[in-house]
Amino acid sequence: MIRGSRFRSKPSTSRRSSLSLLFALVLPILLSACTWGGNHSPLNPASGPTETVNRLWWIMFWMSIVIEALVAGLVVISLIRFRRKAGDPDPVQISGNTRIEIAWTIAPAMILVVLLVLTLTTMVNISEPKGTTMRVTVTGHRWWWEFDYQGMNIVTGNEMHIPLDEPVHIDLRSADVIHSFWVPALAGKRDAIPGHDNTLWISANKPGTYRGECTEFCGAEHANMNFIVVAQPRAEFDAWVRGQQQPAATGQTGLAAEGAQTILAQACAGCHMINGVKGYNVGKIGPNLTHVGSRQNLAAGTLENTPENLARWIRDPQEVKPEAKMPNLGLDEATIAKLVAYLESLK
Ligand code: CUA
Repeated sequence: MIRGSRFRSKPSTSRRSSLSLLFALVLPILLSACTWGGNHSPLNPASGPTETVNRLWWIMFWMSIVIEALVAGLVVISLIRFRRKAGDPDPVQISGNTRIEIAWTIAPAMILVVLLVLTLTTMVNISEPKGTTMRVTVTGHRWWWEFDYQGMNIVTGNEMHIPLDEPVHIDLRSADVIHSFWVPALAGKRDAIPGHDNTLWISANKPGTYRGECTEFCGAEHANMNFIVVAQPRAEFDAWVRGQQQPAATGQTGLAAEGAQTILAQACAGCHMINGVKGYNVGKIGPNLTHVGSRQNLAAGTLENTPENLARWIRDPQEVKPEAKMPNLGLDEATIAKLVAYLESLK
């Protein structure tokens, strides 16, 4: 009887508020697990600079924990030991204590000096090394990233390749609004500002695919403005470079060959370039498609690059990425199938 009535009773206000507090604490942790790739954090460093930053982060973290434990511990001890009991007289009134005041001025100042020195050393350690030879111009567009390898005749979209252990200099540009370039595991974050040239540098000391993203709100599809950085040993990187330097593949057969003809009559050339294809040499609004078939993702990391997804993207870009600059061209299914076969053949 007693148990039944307790079950029927509503939870008390305090229990409800502690439940919502628990929820508020746990929810962000659950949501933060929704990442794309397992190395998307500066606390999972894969380059010299991010390792240095990571070390500083942990030093600051443990220093904060010690200070917090000390302060909170003293507060708790005071609460228990000096709690007022019934009948206690008013405590002795004091005003000022020079020694304590000097101590609590000097101690935090010393802590800040230590942190300043550590921060300055970190800043020196992560500055760009001399002799960075490879330079890439990175341009933020609504809503994708362009990578132009200077003097190498390579332009890619949303996928950057770098050789392992070699610093790469980045000239950062924006084609429209302010974006921000960030590959958490590899480098710091920097804004791409229209009319203002910025630079940064990245490197990787572990091979792998690293996620990067735009971290400055830049409009409707800001959240779908991602890219990847593929760090590979020099020989693999060189092979990639040789492949990317080739003009678009030719000699397709079947559906892809029909697509190669079909695309000449489409409006794609207004925005996209395909090196070596007649009429496709001016479009700079969308990504360069010369080797689109070799890329891992489509639409700036919104979709995995599969024929089905490419068809979905061409069929109605606005359904995948509302407000994207690519309009719905109203193509029929037969044309879409040909274009998909052709574009996927551009490895
Ligand atoms: Cu570009 Cu946010």
